[in-house]
Amino acid sequence: MIDLHSHLLPGIDDGASSVEEALSLARIAVADGITHMAMTPHVHPGRFDNTQQTILPVFNEFQAALDEHEINLCIHAAGEVRLSAEMLGMFAVDQLPFLGEWDGQRVMLLELPHSHVPPGSDKLVQWLMARGVVPMIAHPERNKGIMSDVSKLAPFVELGCLFQLTAMSVAGNFGVEAKRLSDEMLDKGWVTVIASDAHNSDRRPPVLSEAVEAASQLIGQAEARRLVWDNPAKIIGLL
Ligand SMILES: [Fe+2]
Repeated sequence: MIDLHSHLLPGIDDGASSVEEALSLARIAVADGITHMAMTPHVHPGRFDNTQQTILPVFNEFQAALDEHEINLCIHAAGEVRLSAEMLGMFAVDQLPFLGEWDGQRVMLLELPHSHVPPGSDKLVQWLMARGVVPMIAHPERNKGIMSDVSKLAPFVELGCLFQLTAMSVAGNFGVEAKRLSDEMLDKGWVTVIASDAHNSDRRPPVLSEAVEAASQLIGQAEARRLVWDNPAKIIGLL
């Protein structure tokens, strides 16, 4: 399986805090059947001041640690970009990381605040799309505004955004509402990938298998596999 959303890179956000912890998360991922994983540290101006340029050396160090410990996990450097006004300036100087490509457009993992959908978010999406970027909205099923009113998702669907569900939501471990919204999105065929959004081994581990099982019951095995293999493989250029 391929996991396109994770916070394993040590010490640069609220994910793994040391190389040892990152390695133990990598081992959990491999044991779950994950072969490829995108490293997506938060790019959140004022909170986690990461850029494409600052992520890369940490990524290279972690790659070396995986090699040294002979952990068979293919990793890709990317980031999870928080929707913000600062994004525009960072985009202009090529500081924003991308996940890969989708139908000739660059894919950006884009995070909305958890509490609501800020007014003008759709305008920012349009701004990105005009510049050859398709946002993949990170875990919309956990956004409180969308949870209480699913029509808040409509502008993003209409604009052609991609969507990432978090595995624990699909498996029902983030509560009834996140599960209900995940199921609804799966049912409607809106979901592009299921990813772990792994931060740690106890509360948010890098595990996809439980979600794949839950999704299979809803949309069938082939479709569920598409969300953890075919689609992510297409994005990172494996297919
Ligand atoms: Fe995340």
